[in-house]
Amino acid sequence: MDSIKLFEKTFGASPVYDISAAGRINLIGEHVDYCGGKVMPASLNLKCRVLGRPNGTNVINVYADDLDETARLFIPEIESYRGLRWGKYQAGVADALIKAGYPLVGCDLLYSCSVPFGSGLSSSAAIEVATAVALNEIAGNSYDLKEMALLSQKAENEYCGVNCGIMDQFASAMGRKDRAILLDCKTLAYEYIPFELGDYELIVANCNKPHALVTSKYNERRGEVEEALAALKGVYPEISCLAELTPAMFEAAKHVLHGKILDRATHVVYECARVERAAAALKAGDIQTLAALINASHDSLAKLYEVTGREPDALAYAARETEGCIASRMIGAGFGGCTISLVQRERAESFKEIVGKKYRDAVGYEASFYDTSVEDGVTVKKI
Ligand code: GLA
Repeated sequence: MDSIKLFEKTFGASPVYDISAAGRINLIGEHVDYCGGKVMPASLNLKCRVLGRPNGTNVINVYADDLDETARLFIPEIESYRGLRWGKYQAGVADALIKAGYPLVGCDLLYSCSVPFGSGLSSSAAIEVATAVALNEIAGNSYDLKEMALLSQKAENEYCGVNCGIMDQFASAMGRKDRAILLDCKTLAYEYIPFELGDYELIVANCNKPHALVTSKYNERRGEVEEALAALKGVYPEISCLAELTPAMFEAAKHVLHGKILDRATHVVYECARVERAAAALKAGDIQTLAALINASHDSLAKLYEVTGREPDALAYAARETEGCIASRMIGAGFGGCTISLVQRERAESFKEIVGKKYRDAVGYEASFYDTSVEDGVTVKKI
C-alpha cells in the first residue's frame, strides 16, 4: 500500500506534510567527530520519510510502516518514554525541542525509512532530524536546520544514551545534492565540496553482520580518547581536544601514552591529518590520492582503533582485491555495517558480483549493495 493510503487507513485523515531526512556516508574522518576533528560526510537518497498532520490533541502518535506499531507520546509526559523501543528517538527529539523553547502540538506521524537499520548509514539521525523538522513544521515554528542537528544529537546523547558526535545529524540536516560536507566538528564551520569522482563511482555495501553490539563499544572508545586527552594535556595544557594536535606535536608527546590508549590517540591524530589531505585531493580531482587516504583510514580503524571486525574487514579487503576498485573502507561507528568503495564506473556491476561472492565464501552469508546517490539532506513538501 502506498504511504499516503496507509496514513489515511491508520489515522483516518490525510497527511498535510511530506518530510524527509537522509542517511549518510562518510568519505573520511571516522571516529574523530567527538574529538573535535573534521569529517567529510554526504547525505544519501536513502531517507527517513515522515508523513504528518496536526491532530488537535496533545498526543504525538508515531507509526512505523515496517513494524505496524504506533507509539502514543503524551506531550506533558514527554520525558517518560526512554524505555520504548519504537518511539524513543521521537520522544527524545520532542523533549529536546520543548526544552529549547519550541512549542509543540499533537500530531499523527507515519514513518517509512529506506535507510537500513544498524547499517552505519545513520538511520537514527535520519529519524531524529525528520522528526525535528516535522514537529516544527506542524507546530508552525520557524527553525534553523543546524540547530535541529544539534538538538537531535542532544536527544540521542541524553535521552537515548548513545554518546555520539555531531557528524550524522549534521549530514542528515545540512547535506546537499552532489556535495560532500567538510565539517569542522569543533567549531561547526563547514563548506560544501563537489562530490565528483571522475571515472569512479562510490559503491555502498552492507556486511549484514547480525546483532552488532555497537553502543557499548562506541562509548568505550569515547572514554579511551578522553583518557588520552587528559594525559596529553600534561604536555600541552592549552589543548581542548585531540584534533588540535598536529602529527608532529603528537609524536613529541606520545611517550605519555601506552598500549591501547596510545593506539586510539594515534588513529585520531593521523585520521584528522588524512581528512585535510583528502579534502584537498577531492577539490583537485585527485582521486588516486583520495583513494590511498580512504584505504589508510580503514587500516587505522582496523589496527589502531579496533572498530572493524571480521565482517567489515572481509568486505573491505575483498573489494580492494577486485579489479577496478581503488579504495574501500568501513564507515560509521563500526563493528558491522557498511563499507564504501571507489570503483571504475564500467566495472561497477562485475564488482558487486565478484565481491558478493568473495564475501559469501569468506563469511557464509550475503552482503547487500545499495544504489545510492548524493541528495539533499532535508526535503519539506506540503501536500
Ligand atoms: C557514529 C556516530 C558519529 C561518529 C561515527 C564514527 O556514526 O553517530 O557521531 O562518531 O559513528 O565516525
